[in-house]
Amino acid sequence: MSAPANRRDSEPPARREDGTATPAIEAVDLVRRYELDGVAVEALRGVTLRIDRGEFAAVIGPSGSGKSTLMHLLGCLDRPTSGVLRINGVELAGLTDTELAELRNRTIGFVFQSFHLLGRTSALDNVALPLVYRGVGKAERRDRACAALESVGLGHRLDHRPSQMSGGEQQRVAIARALVGEPKVLLADEPTGNLDTGNGTEVMALLDRLNGAGGVAVVLVTHEPEIAAHARRQIHVRDGLIERDTAAP
Ligand SMILES: Nc1ncnc2c1ncn2[C@@H]1O[C@H](COP(=O)(O)OP(=O)(O)O)[C@@H](O)[C@H]1O
Ligand SMILES: [Mg+2]
Repeated sequence: MSAPANRRDSEPPARREDGTATPAIEAVDLVRRYELDGVAVEALRGVTLRIDRGEFAAVIGPSGSGKSTLMHLLGCLDRPTSGVLRINGVELAGLTDTELAELRNRTIGFVFQSFHLLGRTSALDNVALPLVYRGVGKAERRDRACAALESVGLGHRLDHRPSQMSGGEQQRVAIARALVGEPKVLLADEPTGNLDTGNGTEVMALLDRLNGAGGVAVVLVTHEPEIAAHARRQIHVRDGLIERDTAAP
């Protein structure tokens, strides 16, 4: 199998013409309407949002307010009904589904509450999977997956399967998988929601470190104030709208 052309060549510049940095995410008036049995639900009703490189933001709001819908849009797992969305300077509207998947693979790491790992596949192969879709060769996949697992403190668990690991370890494998492609943005939807306090604290320490030292923008959904306090910016969502967006100095 031949590797696809190196897409980094066609990446948009890190700076725009006016000299300002290209935001990691720019959303303008995002609407997402679901149709269910002929009934329309507007999960997002016009969200405008910008996430800069290296930011750390928490999305907070009651159940059903549209947090997951927003994260799925920002993560290119879904498309808006209307509105403009640019990821790393690339406007999504014109992309085919394949191009959208490629953009996601190159730019976004996604972490879910319930980990979404392949249960009977080793930690190493779980983490290497995004690189398979990128056409990276086997030896390099192994090296990069090892390095990603080491960076989350799991260098000694390469051959373990998720079913043999604790919840905290599984979430760290999922974070390694999100990081292996060196994303610009890490999106995490209630990443500590299925973890006990100790493991939740460890996962948050890891996200703090990745954001601080690694410079990856982190956007995480949580309903726990202690978790939200890790973020410098707090985005409050209610009824499909941003109600308040505040940043600590
Ligand atoms: N796939 C879907 N089909 C229909 N309605 C949905 C779908 N996903 C979410 N919704 C509805 O959209 C609203 C927002 O949901 P969601 O984004 O999951 O909220 P949150 O993550 O804040 O709990 C809810 O009313 C929910 O029932
Ligand atoms: Mg949700």
